[in-house]
Amino acid sequence: MSHRSAHYGEEMSVVKINALTVPAEMRATLEQRFAGRAGMVEQADGFEWFELLRPIEGTDSYLVYTRWRSEEDFQKWQASQAFGEGHRGAASGPAPQGGQHGGPSGGPGGHGGPAPAATGATLWSFEVVQSASPGTN
Ligand code: HEM
Repeated sequence: MSHRSAHYGEEMSVVKINALTVPAEMRATLEQRFAGRAGMVEQADGFEWFELLRPIEGTDSYLVYTRWRSEEDFQKWQASQAFGEGHRGAASGPAPQGGQHGGPSGGPGGHGGPAPAATGATLWSFEVVQSASPGTN
């Protein structure tokens, strides 16, 4: 769908951004893990977009940008086995499933398995109010 703006009664997409704290010496490892990621998020119902954003200026955090058809779709994916498998190397198990977004940040203490490349993660939630792409008008 190209042109969207907020109208009552129309469900808007939600954006979930996971901000990762990554020690400089772990950046390459993190990027490699994402490069080799399970890729299962693409199959999740309601999944719309994913980007891994490497910080250049203004922040040292990597951002994992995801967009979903609805909050419910995101919650289902986070509770799914696919999420757990996609995060095997990221933490000592699926990330904490705070009901709402947010969950306290601060990395999952990794016990067992490969050490997580990220030492902290904070989940941000947004509603898409407006969006545009080339040629929407
Ligand atoms: C404890 C918190 C989290 C940490 C430290 C973390 C870190 C990582 C890392 C390192 C990977 C690469 C895969 C791997 O290493 O096996 C990954 C995959 C991914 N993460 Fe997270 N993550 C966390 C929670 C989340 C949350 C809440 C979201 C929601 C936006 C998210 C979105 C993604 C996506 C979309 C992928 C790719 C998975 C796939 O392709 O199926 N992560 N994460």
